[in-house]
Parts: sequence; structure tokens; C-alpha cells
Amino acid sequence: MKNIFFLISIFFIGCNSSTENNVKEHISKVNNNGEVVFKANCATCHKPAENYVGPALQGVLKRWESKELLYAFVKNSQEVIGRNAYAKKLFEEYKQSPMLPYPNLSDEDIEGVLNYCDTYK
Ligand code: HEC
Repeated sequence: MKNIFFLISIFFIGCNSSTENNVKEHISKVNNNGEVVFKANCATCHKPAENYVGPALQGVLKRWESKELLYAFVKNSQEVIGRNAYAKKLFEEYKQSPMLPYPNLSDEDIEGVLNYCDTYK
């Protein structure tokens, strides 16, 4: 009986480490794509770690009350500026230069860009 439990736990340990590897692989793919998306769409106005035409994007998620709101802002900043005080303040701080809307970016693309900026050195 003890042996069966032993085998079962080995089996689960085996499964766990392979899911972890899959997750890591997935994150690094998203990151790679993030660099491409960032350089193609965002780099004219943003730098990962310095303010430029727009704010530095490193750690930006912490400045927003939710990920959903931040993603909505990237897809259509003007719409969010109309209903959120933080976005409005930011827009005014940046001398009312509007950020372009990106309705075609998926949540995964945006996540990739933010991951790329967060890990940029
Ligand atoms: C034409 C210039 C321009 C481009 C291109 C641009 N942005 Fe922006 N971005 C801005 C400006 C300016 C702001 C400050 C808010 C405002 O003025 O609307 C901003 C704000 C932001 C913020 C909020 C920053 C904070 O401190 O909370 C995020 C996130 C962001 N941009 C992401 C992106 C991403 C992702 C892309 C590419 C897909 C992108 N931006 C492309 C100009 C730009």
C-alpha cells in the first residue's frame, strides 16, 4: 500500500515540473513577441526605463488600479481618459499629446510589451 502512494507522489512531482517548464516557455515566447510589438508600435514615443514623449513603461501596471483599465487605455486612450482620473491627469501632464489607439493589439500582445519593458536592462 505504501508503495502505491510513493508511486503516485512521484507521478505528481513529475507532472508538476513539466507544467512549470511549459509556463516558462510560454512566458519567454510572450516576451519575445513583446519586444517586436514594442519596437514596431511603441518605441517612437516610449522607452522602457526613461520618460520620453510618453512615460517610461517599466512598472506601469503598479500605477493603474486594474490591468483591464490599463489594457483598455492602450487600445483606446481617449476613451479611458474620459472616464478615469489617473488617465486624465497623465494626459494633462504629458501636455495633452494623445497616445495613438491600438485596437488591434490583443491582451497577450500588451502583456508581452509590458513584460519586455519590466525585464529590460
Ligand atoms: C505618438 C506617441 C505614442 C505612441 C506611439 C505610444 N504611446 Fe503610450 N503614451 C503616449 C503619451 C503621450 C502618454 C501619456 C498619456 C497621454 O498623453 O495620453 C502615453 C501613455 C502610455 C501608458 C500609461 C503610462 C503610465 O505612466 O501610466 C501606457 C501603458 C502606454 N502609453 C503604452 C503604450 C504602448 C504599449 C504603446 C505601443 C503599442 C504606446 N504606448 C505607443 C504616447 C505614445
